Amino acid sequence: MTVSGGTNGAQPRPGLAARLDGLPASATIEMARRARELLAAGHKVISLALGEPDFPTPPAAIEAAHAAALAGDTKYPPVDGTPALKAAVARKFARENGLDYAPDELIVSNGGKQIIFNAFMATIDPGDEVVVPAPYWVSYPLIARMFGGVPVHPVCDESDGFSLRADRLAQALTPRTKWLVLNFPNNPSGGVCTEEELRAIASALRDFPNVWILSDEIYEHLVFDNRRFTSFASVAPDLRDRILTMNGVAKAYAMTGWRVGYAGGPRDLIAAMRTVQGNATSGVCTVAQAAAAAALDGPEDLIGVMRATYAKRRQAVVEALRAIPGITCAMPSGAFYAYPGVEGCLGKTTPDGQVIATDADFALALLDRAHVATVPGSAFGLSPYLRLSCATGDAELEEACRRIAGFVASLR
Ligand SMILES: Cc1ncc(COP(=O)(O)O)c(C=O)c1O
Repeated sequence: MTVSGGTNGAQPRPGLAARLDGLPASATIEMARRARELLAAGHKVISLALGEPDFPTPPAAIEAAHAAALAGDTKYPPVDGTPALKAAVARKFARENGLDYAPDELIVSNGGKQIIFNAFMATIDPGDEVVVPAPYWVSYPLIARMFGGVPVHPVCDESDGFSLRADRLAQALTPRTKWLVLNFPNNPSGGVCTEEELRAIASALRDFPNVWILSDEIYEHLVFDNRRFTSFASVAPDLRDRILTMNGVAKAYAMTGWRVGYAGGPRDLIAAMRTVQGNATSGVCTVAQAAAAAALDGPEDLIGVMRATYAKRRQAVVEALRAIPGITCAMPSGAFYAYPGVEGCLGKTTPDGQVIATDADFALALLDRAHVATVPGSAFGLSPYLRLSCATGDAELEEACRRIAGFVASLR
């Protein structure tokens, strides 16, 4: 790969690695950038583009970080996590998920994202297939592709509540499959698999003993309507040797900026991930680990407050969207997003003559004309949809829905 631009185009210059060829920038970050540009130009932009809780970090976590810093907990930590945080993680997995992990079966990383990066770097060879059901959080296929992985995307249909059907999965698995990624509650659709559906998924995986399974459970606490969250490893103990159960404090405790994610899995995989991380970032910031341990051991009522708030907003947003002719919206079972369908708006034209041919056209025109930032379904591998984050204040959400209605009404 060659690099264009620079101070002197005539001079040969060193290039970038081929592994970055064709890798698109994250669409969520791109929408946020455009939204910031409009904001800087003085427009009142409402951003529903980022998946970031609008709650403060629990005070107990902040106090624990402060106390750790004052107590001198400011030296290089162990690569795979401080003993105190790993003990808190082990308690959490046992208490909430019925999973027992020994200390050398656990790793703490810089956010959930680095867990995925470590795991994929440690296991994916060029040409390996990585099954990521669509719609998906954008980072899984992008990270897989950095290591030569080939993403494969069975679809989780809206008509199935966006959950993964075992027969769809079975069709996607091949002898070349290295990973299956499960992410329920799902970003972006809010889909949640029932225990029975997870059992059927496990059944399909038994025919493919060479497949690792990443269960990204970062939204586990955000399930609604009296649904119960089930951790994949708890329904398939016989697959324990190849399941990596991933989680973090970003969503459950509104601690996105602290950068703490963690995972439990088989010893050999965890050791390989530790090697990757040891050569990249080493251990996570000590005071952030102290904060995360306090959050995991802290009172659970804060999570309940957030869940109730998201549930209320979800109801209001879905009702407002359903009232807009041309837009459909399933009621999400979990996470904090709405994933409305915009099929009924495709083929229409904005007042200044722009044709809305895709969900990406819709999202861009909505941002430019109504100053509401969302992310098109195309970024998540399932169109034509939009992802709206409900981790936004009630008044802003209400105003955003009003603007979306006005924008859609202006289409001809
Ligand atoms: C499904 C999913 N997994 C993992 C992450 C990563 O979280 P972290 O901030 O801990 O890296 C996110 C963040 O948006 C996410 O949506």
